[in-house]
Amino acid sequence: MKVLLTGGAGFIGSHTCVELINAGHEPVIADNFDNSCPEVLNRIEEITGRRVPLYEIDVCDGESVGAMFEKESFDAVIHFAGLKAVGESCALPLRYYRNNIDSTLTLLEAMAKYGVSNFVFSSSATVYGVPEKVPLVEGMPTGCTNPYGWTKLMNEQILTDAAAADERLSVVLLRYFNPIGAHESGRLGEDPNGIPNNLMPYITQVAAGKLEKLGVFGDDYPTRDGTGVRDYIHVVDLAKAHVKAIDYAATRKGTEIFNIGTGTGYSVLEIVNAFMRVNDLTIPYEIKPRRAGDIAECYADASKAREILGWQAEKDLDDMCRDSWNWQSKNKNGYK
Ligand code: UD1
Repeated sequence: MKVLLTGGAGFIGSHTCVELINAGHEPVIADNFDNSCPEVLNRIEEITGRRVPLYEIDVCDGESVGAMFEKESFDAVIHFAGLKAVGESCALPLRYYRNNIDSTLTLLEAMAKYGVSNFVFSSSATVYGVPEKVPLVEGMPTGCTNPYGWTKLMNEQILTDAAAADERLSVVLLRYFNPIGAHESGRLGEDPNGIPNNLMPYITQVAAGKLEKLGVFGDDYPTRDGTGVRDYIHVVDLAKAHVKAIDYAATRKGTEIFNIGTGTGYSVLEIVNAFMRVNDLTIPYEIKPRRAGDIAECYADASKAREILGWQAEKDLDDMCRDSWNWQSKNKNGYK
């Protein structure tokens, strides 16, 4: 299939691009490099031997998107592009709503006009809000604690309504848990701007000597060791879920939601300890107050994806810790 990847130069998009090529698909990337680098296309070519076509456009811009759909005959769209910093979304909510909602509407309009019917959306476990219980099952109540999360949930609603009204449309909503790790070649990985917000990039930058020590946000949660528990998933496993999702979308109509996690939760201290053991490094850390908006535990019931998509995570925490450090240690300044 010829597949449009919006945000295809980003962390999850770039790994998905490689897995799509490995599976015999033809990805095309649309990216404005707002939070990614053109160098990613060289790295994808090194790994796969394929130069992926690029449209350097903003997918909120209907004219550019229309011109791209006019030129390419897409079979499917995977929509990764979007703003994703929780704290920034609280400070700049209108920017988040404008960007993250407009892009989806623009793509849906172009798809209707050009007869493209398969849509896979990058959603997030953040749509479960403060969970009543774990593991999280797709049918559980949703609700968000910040504008970023609301843009994910609103996009889920928009896509569900669009698919209900247009019998040609097939929508797959993938609710990602916590993606970490990197391509095993060490040529693709996560390259956050500035000081990382997320745990694993923070740990790898401490390991690299770029940051002094990790702050562990809270040790008084009702968990095994008092620190927050999350379902960390290797980005290559997550990428492979997208290959399954476009195959699945192409065989059916309507909307389906899948949790994409491993089903296992690890605490912050378990991650830190695994990272130190696997890579034979020391990570200095100190306990800090809880971070506003954080929850105690969040991990998936991943059985629906296993049963219906035929997908499950294959890599374990040691793989994630090893590959995250392999990427960071070989790319001190990311792609720059
Ligand atoms: C965060 C976002 C979530 C988003 C996801 C994308 C928040 C509140 N949530 O998830 O909406 O979908 O990223 O990847 O920002 N931690 C530390 N020290 C750090 C960083 C994190 O102790 O320096 C802890 C956190 O308290 C949490 C765990 O590590 O318990 C994971 O944090 P993080 O990687 O930021 O992911 P989430 O908060 O789960």
